[in-house]
Amino acid sequence: MRHLDTIENLTTVEIEELIDSASSFKSGRYANYSTKHVALMFFENSTRTRFSFECAINRLGAHPYIFDISKSSNQKGETIKDTINNLCAIGINTFVIRTKEEDLIDKLKQIDFYKPVHFINAGKGKSSHPTQALLDYFTMLEKIKTVKNKKVVIIGDIKHSRVAKSNIALLKKFGANIITTAPEYFKEDINGAFFEPDLKKALDGADVVMALRIQNERLDEAISKEDFIKNYSLNMENFPKNAILMHPGPVNRDVEISSELLDSKIGITILNQAENGVYIRMAVIDKILKGQLK
Ligand code: CP
Repeated sequence: MRHLDTIENLTTVEIEELIDSASSFKSGRYANYSTKHVALMFFENSTRTRFSFECAINRLGAHPYIFDISKSSNQKGETIKDTINNLCAIGINTFVIRTKEEDLIDKLKQIDFYKPVHFINAGKGKSSHPTQALLDYFTMLEKIKTVKNKKVVIIGDIKHSRVAKSNIALLKKFGANIITTAPEYFKEDINGAFFEPDLKKALDGADVVMALRIQNERLDEAISKEDFIKNYSLNMENFPKNAILMHPGPVNRDVEISSELLDSKIGITILNQAENGVYIRMAVIDKILKGQLK
């Protein structure tokens, strides 16, 4: 049984191997997994992650299957365990899962299925999104070569963001100086990151600036969008010279980033992230199918 669940479970060597592998796929490396079948089970909405996994599976010569929750027999009461067992019997042995349930993948990993299976975390609750952190790191390395001693500023809804948690888990392994900045209602102390409430101070001398979407679907109480925009929105005026702008997407225009900044040359890195997502996911699936991930 081999899985990718969290960044914390990967060593720096494994991360570097994944980055090298993604880089070689980007340079045209070929693989042929024509006997492999992968299910995409997304219990939460997605555009980038779902399509880039599907694209990655196709480029590897394997076969992706979209699990449409609304038309599946889960709607008739079938449990996820029974669903996976049946898909396993049909011939699918790799499952890419996005879920709001923090412990679902952990529970699935404990089950002795009909045949050996792999699980890949495609975004789990508020806690982890490992392939996003890997593609973000890959993009940072392309732009600034190393993150060691570089100032990486993460802005916005830290509290509800699995992207922030996985990025911090990864960046601290490689010696980045990580700053989070947010209004009090989005603050969360995360080991490995320093919190600075003042946006201007946080942005001073930044090498990488990562904005996050307000996770409206996870908020317990309403917040003032106007207050957030006034104090934490990035624009042409406050964006630090020479920094790179990142965002996992989807972007809420004119909330976390002004349209003017997003549509400028500075905003291109966000599309580079989406592009790199395909190569990182090819690298992850390749490594898993070769049995090299724990
Ligand atoms: N970054 C990210 O996870 O985007 P999607 O929700 O569109 O997959």
